[in-house]
Amino acid sequence: MEPHTRIEKIAGFVRQRLYQVAASRAGETYIDPEYRWNHTLRVTQYGRQIASAEGANLELTTAGCLLHDVAWFDTPGEAESREHGRLGARLARPLLQELGYAPEEAGNICFSIAAHVDDRADFEHPVTLESKIVSDADNIDRFGAYRILQRYERQVRDWQGLTGAVAERLTTLRKYRHDQIMGTPTGNELFNRQLDFQIAFFERLLAERDLTRPVEE
Ligand SMILES: [Fe+2]
Ligand SMILES: [Fe+2]
Repeated sequence: MEPHTRIEKIAGFVRQRLYQVAASRAGETYIDPEYRWNHTLRVTQYGRQIASAEGANLELTTAGCLLHDVAWFDTPGEAESREHGRLGARLARPLLQELGYAPEEAGNICFSIAAHVDDRADFEHPVTLESKIVSDADNIDRFGAYRILQRYERQVRDWQGLTGAVAERLTTLRKYRHDQIMGTPTGNELFNRQLDFQIAFFERLLAERDLTRPVEE
């Protein structure tokens, strides 16, 4: 099977599973398969960009990115959500075998999926360049423009609360910017770009807070 066909089948599998499981839990809060699928697409684009720059295996990285959140809606609740990587790897393995991936290729992809949440898989596997990239790409999208809207959507009409939360957030973002926390150099570069944008945006918002005062004599 051509790599392109395999990737297409993986994308189809993930999209269908996200929408299907989300539909079975409709009515619960935060069930948004469209966001999860769009996030998956962006993570895949970031992952491919990093893989090209870092000389990683492009197909294995692409497959890992596409599949990383496949079990997102299968693991409701905060504690269970930590398992969505490990469960996702279990869901992906039969598909990868069916698509003709060699055991070591399937192992590489499954490790990326399993470990992307907290660096832990429930099977033995060394850390790979591809797994670091999947995790980097995931984090890069978590610090994008859309995530600002999503993070503060419920606070947007609470100026005090909003600006207070933003000031706190700035401290965290500046720490991340200082610490270079991604697993690859290209990952750090793209992540820093996201951080610089968010930091600039929040600094502007706080400057507007400082302007929100009456004229002094
Ligand atoms: Fe995830
Ligand atoms: Fe993700």
